[in-house]
Amino acid sequence: MIVLGVETSCDETAVAVVKDGKEVLANVVYSQIKYHKDYGGVVPEVASRHHIRKITLVFEQALREANLKPEDIDLVAVTAKPGLIGSLIVGINAAKAFALAHDLEYIEVDHIKGHIYANYIENDFHFPLLALVVSGGHTELVLMKDYDQFEILGETLDDAVGECYDKVGRVMGLDYPAGALVDKLAHQGTPKYNLPLIYLEKDEYNFSFSGLKSAVLNLLNSAKMKGEEVNYSDLAASFQNSAVRVLTDKTIQAAKEYKVAQIIVAGGVAANRGLREALAEAVKELDNVILSFPALKYCTDNAAMIAVAGYFKYQSIDKRK
Ligand code: KG4
Ligand code: ZN
Repeated sequence: MIVLGVETSCDETAVAVVKDGKEVLANVVYSQIKYHKDYGGVVPEVASRHHIRKITLVFEQALREANLKPEDIDLVAVTAKPGLIGSLIVGINAAKAFALAHDLEYIEVDHIKGHIYANYIENDFHFPLLALVVSGGHTELVLMKDYDQFEILGETLDDAVGECYDKVGRVMGLDYPAGALVDKLAHQGTPKYNLPLIYLEKDEYNFSFSGLKSAVLNLLNSAKMKGEEVNYSDLAASFQNSAVRVLTDKTIQAAKEYKVAQIIVAGGVAANRGLREALAEAVKELDNVILSFPALKYCTDNAAMIAVAGYFKYQSIDKRK
């Protein structure tokens, strides 16, 4: 089954073509980041306008790269939520128009499920499976007992971890999105600063990152007032240490409780080296649990993951018929 995926929920205009949920025939991602950088974040109205400008070209390029004609496509899958509403509308309308014009099946999928399915491109799934979703907008622990079955065990009560990385990077003068740059800085420093580890004892699988973010901002403000120097590499290392430890500890705890066969990490922060290293180390204490990450290009927003999510959602609907 050949699925064309469309993703426009934030600031990437993306179209991909994927065969049987695995074989990526084309993966075109047009990033608008240069238009948003100066504002320190994504400006929704600007994002919608750039999606409109690029969407048709990105469709054409994906078909060209896959060397396919529209009638070779079996299913069109598009991100319908969550995301910036103006941006989503552009992708949904383009996908619907394409499906209607070429008489193709059409399905709407959830962006977060897309991030989870990004793992399937290079790794098989083994159930029960625990997904740690860490993106710019979400932080969740999701239990899957089968394909297309999702149970949220916990989520952030305030900031998403990626959002926190971006904010911490911003106060250190780094460009948006700052996650990868903070990760790089962290590897050049040592975690010398004392920052909180927020576990929410009674709320075992929920997360809270706003306190950690505020602790970094307070440390910088008070150092500034006292005229003290702050070593940014050490601060990045301390921040990363706190964020990664909480993510890792809760993931391992949930993996034990639900006796999972596999842990997968999903979303932009799945690219984080510190998180990859900490989980690889921690998973050694579990018996026979497979740890998988998506390839770096499938961690951040792309349409290949949406095509895979569409493929599985379509199969599950088909089975119920
Ligand atoms: O999943 P994604 O592309 O977008 C959302 O759906 O939100 O994630 C983007 C987020 C940004 O916050 C970015 O700073 C973060 O992922 N990110 C990282 C790294 N690479 C991207 N955060 C930490 N370390 C990284 N290496
Ligand atoms: Zn995303």
